[in-house]
Amino acid sequence: MLNRRQALLCGASFGAVAALPVQLAAQTGEHLTYPPLLDATRSQQFRLWAQAGKTRFNGGATTDTLGYNQDYLGPTLRLMTGADTQAEVENQLRAPVSAHWHGLLVPGDVDGGPHQAIAPGQSWRPVLSLDQPPATAWYHSHVHGTTAEQVMFGLAGVLLVTDEQDDNRGLPSAYGIDDLTLVLQDRQFNRRGRMTYNSGMHDAMNGFLGDTMLVNGQVGATAAVPKGIVRCRLVNGSNARIYRLSLSDNRPMHLIATDGGYLDRPVALSDLTLAPGERAEVLIEFLDGIDCSLVSDNIANSAMGGMMGGRSGGQFVVLPFAVDTTLSARISGLPESLDGVLPNLDFAGAPVRRLSLDMSMGMGMMMTRANRQFSINNVVFDETALNFSVALNSLERWVVQGDLMMHPFHIHGVRFQVLSENGQQPRPENRGWKDTVLVNGQSELAVRFEKQASRSAPYMYHCHILEHEDGGMMGQFSVS
Ligand code: C2O
Ligand code: CU
Ligand code: CU
Repeated sequence: MLNRRQALLCGASFGAVAALPVQLAAQTGEHLTYPPLLDATRSQQFRLWAQAGKTRFNGGATTDTLGYNQDYLGPTLRLMTGADTQAEVENQLRAPVSAHWHGLLVPGDVDGGPHQAIAPGQSWRPVLSLDQPPATAWYHSHVHGTTAEQVMFGLAGVLLVTDEQDDNRGLPSAYGIDDLTLVLQDRQFNRRGRMTYNSGMHDAMNGFLGDTMLVNGQVGATAAVPKGIVRCRLVNGSNARIYRLSLSDNRPMHLIATDGGYLDRPVALSDLTLAPGERAEVLIEFLDGIDCSLVSDNIANSAMGGMMGGRSGGQFVVLPFAVDTTLSARISGLPESLDGVLPNLDFAGAPVRRLSLDMSMGMGMMMTRANRQFSINNVVFDETALNFSVALNSLERWVVQGDLMMHPFHIHGVRFQVLSENGQQPRPENRGWKDTVLVNGQSELAVRFEKQASRSAPYMYHCHILEHEDGGMMGQFSVS
């Protein structure tokens, strides 16, 4: 493993390659729209198809994109927990794709990872039996080696797990009015307005950072909100960008849910860090009718941190909110408590598993671009090799160490508890149930395995910087 100093020396000749600061996108004044809602709570079935599309972003040239059921991104799926839903995913593209249900606690054979790749022209028909608390999850293609590119061009969507009790909880639940699904992505466009992604050396190494902010696939749009309490379901669907979100006038965001569902009560935060793959639900107060913007710090997460870290800094606008008094404000007060249960696993005596997210071999790539190698415990992902097996319903303590930069670590098929971050209590946004956590040094997790995954349909664990994942910073395990 290279240490930071060696990496610095190694990177010295690449000083010119720096993460671009995000430009403040010119506001177009357009209204933000939301992905179409595909509500399967009654029908208990839905159909997705992966298709090619054409999209014009911000008035630029028409660019080739990918989507589920539409030109770019996919519909928001609403699924009932406590029920079985019949899914059908058809691949209308010429390359294999998949639909991984990131955040659904379902067995390995219906998880939609690399082992459930759908060949061109084929369909996949999994039954999703949900018995988990309500949560904001998402779905995206997950074919090994092409995940980064397919998600970049649009193969991703949001998934809402519901028990239809949000009115009783006093939470906003009107889709697109006071319950806002927000997919955050950074992208790059050429001068003609075409989306570009070539995964050159710098991007392959550190993960792609774009200079244009998209929310739900739109550039520079403004979200109209009622004069009341608004719920934002934030989904970081970026390949590599980490957002540190806050509101422009410093009003608090009230965190109500993390990846795995509700907290026990709202927690007021002045800022919230959201790494690729993570979700957070926050309530924002617009009771006074005053507009504000969701903004983010510009974070350059780079293996040459010491050097390029200096290039980060500054803030950019993610999404302006404009109060529209014609919209009905249904909720005018924050709930005092929520019915989520914070994780409190009894991990004493649980076996310890150490995982190190390694980039050292990737550093060789700095010299020879062809050889991109990332790994976990120095083992590069191999779809044909199982990395380990765990017993069903067992509990383990995972000590996850990140090499050279921050890595969002994700585990399929589980919800976990973050026990500590660099020996400290976890950040407030990491105290609820999680399936993805940003490892900045070392994080300790308590993981319980409650769903089955066979050797032929194992679960993945990986860095959710998609270029790292595709490069081999991934492993797989069975649960039986
Ligand atoms: Cu969001 Cu293995 O993925
Ligand atoms: Cu996942
Ligand atoms: Cu990584």
